[in-house]
Amino acid sequence: MTQSKWLEIENKYDSGVYHKHEVVMVRGQGATVWDDAGRSYIDCVVGYGVATLGHSHPDVVKAVQEQAGKLMVMPQSVPNDKRAEFLQELVSVLPQGLEKVFLCNSGTEAMEAAKKFAITGTGRQKFVSMKRGFAGRSLGALAFTWEPKYREPFGDAVDNRNVDFVTYGDIEQLRAVVTDETAAVIIEPVQGEGGVRPATAEFLQEARRITKEKGALLILDEIQTGFCRTGKMFACEHSGVIPDGMTLAKAMAGGVPIGAFAMTAEVGAKMPAGGHGTTFGGNPLSMAAGIAAIRAMKREGMAEQAREKGEYFMEKLRGIGSNKIREVRGLGLMIGVELKEKSAPYIEALEHTEGVLALQATPLVVRFLPPATITKEQIDQVVAAFGRVLNSVNPRAERQAELAAAKEDTQTE
Ligand SMILES: Cc1ncc(COP(=O)(O)O)c(C=O)c1O
Repeated sequence: MTQSKWLEIENKYDSGVYHKHEVVMVRGQGATVWDDAGRSYIDCVVGYGVATLGHSHPDVVKAVQEQAGKLMVMPQSVPNDKRAEFLQELVSVLPQGLEKVFLCNSGTEAMEAAKKFAITGTGRQKFVSMKRGFAGRSLGALAFTWEPKYREPFGDAVDNRNVDFVTYGDIEQLRAVVTDETAAVIIEPVQGEGGVRPATAEFLQEARRITKEKGALLILDEIQTGFCRTGKMFACEHSGVIPDGMTLAKAMAGGVPIGAFAMTAEVGAKMPAGGHGTTFGGNPLSMAAGIAAIRAMKREGMAEQAREKGEYFMEKLRGIGSNKIREVRGLGLMIGVELKEKSAPYIEALEHTEGVLALQATPLVVRFLPPATITKEQIDQVVAAFGRVLNSVNPRAERQAELAAAKEDTQTE
């Protein structure tokens, strides 16, 4: 097969920070994407958990088309009809009490905003984050991201001297580090990047209690879990915990870049005017997409679909019964399969031989983040494909073959 010209061009000019797949995707509809050779794939990545509504949801497409012809940009200092409508729609689905919103364009920006609002909102500068937590990659958000490989290349520029990391789920550790100097505790209700690990309701409820006692904020990072992914509009609804702030992005506008930090009026009130801002945040185009996306989520019962299909998906995955699987876990359609060996060869084989896109989450976990519109037939296909891949891929034998071939090469040189 000749290499796509697009792949060559992208590899030539792209910054090089990504490990690129050998495929060029050109179209998507629902849970299916197509490459430039016309091959179809079942997409259980959906742009790292963005297209929960499925690719190119008709309502989002229509809203973007209409708004693009009307008004695409208007800074947040100038009120706009779509922004007002979006804010109203968003606040109507947020947990009670979160009624002030800072709009931006991505998850890491939402976390930057959360950090700044937490500092001004409490007059404190210390934070608590979770081991295995992922909060984004800008320098401010990186300070809350646990995995050293993301932080170390940047040395002291990532300043996390004011951040304590505690073991996810360990209530006593959390109690020991939260003091009356803590601005906020930051928790993902389900750790995504850290291996698809749902928090227990007890942990989140205790985190709520501890932060209240110490006058610290509880900030839930719902960037990946929010907007129906886990079977509720927000994952915090599973435990009934209402935070002081919530970071949002990914699925909020059905595929268009967007981010937000939602907070209580009390937290919002202490930021000085002009203390934070962004050019593109709250632009009418992403606002129109966001209105359409949230309305479609509600109308089509996406949370319920994610809950029901997630249970079905996990039950089928458990039914594979492979001795390479250590655990199947997740919440709604945020699913992780922890293997007893590295997951990368299986994810590659799923893509290349089976036409299924899945994602890694820590070296051992295969993560499935399909859209809530995926059909049960498609879930059956994905599970059958995964079963075949688990049977056929033998990384140890392949590695031995590679080593043997390398040895032969050096011997003939
Ligand atoms: C929980 C969580 N927080 C923050 C981020 C960063 O979001 P973004 O990539 O939009 O900057 C992500 C992205 O994967 C995430 O999953």
